[in-house]
Amino acid sequence: MRQPLVAGNWKMNGTRTAVADLIGGIKAGLGGVESAEVAVCPPFPYLAMVEDALQGTPIAWGAQNLCTEVSGAFTGEVSAAMLRDFGCRYVIVGHSERRQYYGEDNQIVARKEAVARQHHLVPILCVGETLAQREAGITEEVVADQLDAVIELSGVAAFASTVVAYEPVWAIGTGLTATPDQAQAVHAFIRGRIAEKDAAIAAGVRILYGGSMKPDNAAELLAQVDIDGGLIGGASLKAADFLGICAAA
Ligand code: G3H
Repeated sequence: MRQPLVAGNWKMNGTRTAVADLIGGIKAGLGGVESAEVAVCPPFPYLAMVEDALQGTPIAWGAQNLCTEVSGAFTGEVSAAMLRDFGCRYVIVGHSERRQYYGEDNQIVARKEAVARQHHLVPILCVGETLAQREAGITEEVVADQLDAVIELSGVAAFASTVVAYEPVWAIGTGLTATPDQAQAVHAFIRGRIAEKDAAIAAGVRILYGGSMKPDNAAELLAQVDIDGGLIGGASLKAADFLGICAAA
């Protein structure tokens, strides 16, 4: 009942030429993807190009961040309405790189999650623990706090139209991947936390895994009962690798 979603987070990578090549490659190879919904999240300056290239295809697109505010004097920020204006379906919120380098705490992330939904974007809400937190045995506590901030601000109903991405920080861009069992355990915890408030919403929410997912480890991760797709960083920059993951979902 939950259609898998594989979303590419290009992070701060790309040129006009590279974006054209990558999008061309993904479109050309989409025939091998049977069941997954596919999405790409380019940097802001390339959204118009991606919109032009992907309009009328089954591939969705989204942004990597948005402003907590709706409009006005917020120099350098990009609003939810602007993202809709460029046809975005998704927006990543609370990526660990935003939390780590730009001071986004759980309350800021919850506000971004809310403003995205209010503008008919689907947030991809990232949660996950650092290595130190895992080693301290507080993974579930950390992830619970990240989820609870959204529930406190918006209620559990938020998760009826939000995607969750579990990304253990220690697995991002490191080549270290959570084992399928490790990932499944946290995914089940996330679904359980939401189920404590609303079992039907929990059953429907898509929970993606992110952290060094590649074509050769994707199938095993995606076979887990609570893993509903992937949020892909490095491997989303090569059409063949990204398509390999999409085909496995
Ligand atoms: O948003 C994507 C994640 O940060 C995963 O990145 O696939 O390069 O480890 P990665």
